[in-house]
Amino acid sequence: MTEVPRVRGEHLQERAEPQDPPPSSYLGDWAPKLRPGCGAAQSMASPGTSVSSPELPEQNFQYREVQYWDQRYKDATDSGPYEWFGDYASFRALLEPELCPEDRILVLGCGNSALSYELFLGGFPNVTSVDYSPVVVAAMQVRYAHVPSLRWETMDVRALDFPGDSFDVVLEKGTLDALLAGERDPWNVSSEGVHTVDQVLTEVSRVLVPGGRFISMTSAGPHFRSRHYAQSHYGWSLRHTTYGSGFHFHFYVMQKGRELNVTQLALGAQLLSTPSPPASPCFLQDSDNEDFLGAIHL
Ligand SMILES: C[S@@+](CC[C@H](N)C(=O)[O-])C[C@H]1O[C@@H](n2cnc3c(N)ncnc32)[C@H](O)[C@@H]1O
Repeated sequence: MTEVPRVRGEHLQERAEPQDPPPSSYLGDWAPKLRPGCGAAQSMASPGTSVSSPELPEQNFQYREVQYWDQRYKDATDSGPYEWFGDYASFRALLEPELCPEDRILVLGCGNSALSYELFLGGFPNVTSVDYSPVVVAAMQVRYAHVPSLRWETMDVRALDFPGDSFDVVLEKGTLDALLAGERDPWNVSSEGVHTVDQVLTEVSRVLVPGGRFISMTSAGPHFRSRHYAQSHYGWSLRHTTYGSGFHFHFYVMQKGRELNVTQLALGAQLLSTPSPPASPCFLQDSDNEDFLGAIHL
């Protein structure tokens, strides 16, 4: 599998175990592809279940396309769960204190993860899970048919088909990362990328009740992700922590009806400001005519 240049930044990353060292499992246009066999589903797979390595996209931007996910999930009915950015055990201690047993919970981009079922087992039974891949939604309906309080629907998270104020908690794990996959420069997300994330967050804010929480689990650290979340029009506050041993993942909690602080608002403003143009290059084609003074910006 071809390797492409690596740069630091936000990336979509597939991991077998949170304890694994990160470099070989970084995925991105700027990162080496995961070696086949490194992305096997992890310990959540039930005993005796056949678990094969997922098919990786040729190009990282394909993580944004439903066709890729449909193809990847074609055997999901017969395989065990696959967890992005850690399984339930790895973030349980952070997640459960944010939840009440009676909460109406919405899981965005549920994929083949056991998160929704683990919520049920943990005493949070009212869970609706959506994914735009009808293939994985059908597979989850079959896998968890014995748990009627778990609902599964095919839906695009950019346009949720739920009325306003209908959930107490919205969770996402790796779904925004998929929507941002293929971004060339994580420091300067394209206007298309900013718009896509805004579509999702606007929908999340709309379906949350006042006081509701949006919880996001991701490989994207605050320097890349916080400015997306720190927008006053969503009407929520922002907290951040990490989970996982060895390599850390990021856990963000937004609470609707609370406020961002001044620092966060300033950070959020950076997302909407026009990136400053690069400094004038200093051309050195002809040493006799070099204008060194012209290259000095006072
Ligand atoms: C990186 S996987 C994460 C799966 C799961 N949440 C987990 O933690 O393992 C991203 C998931 O988001 C889904 N997805 C991507 N874009 C979506 C969209 N616009 N609407 C709904 N689901 C989407 C994909 O089908 C895929 O299942």
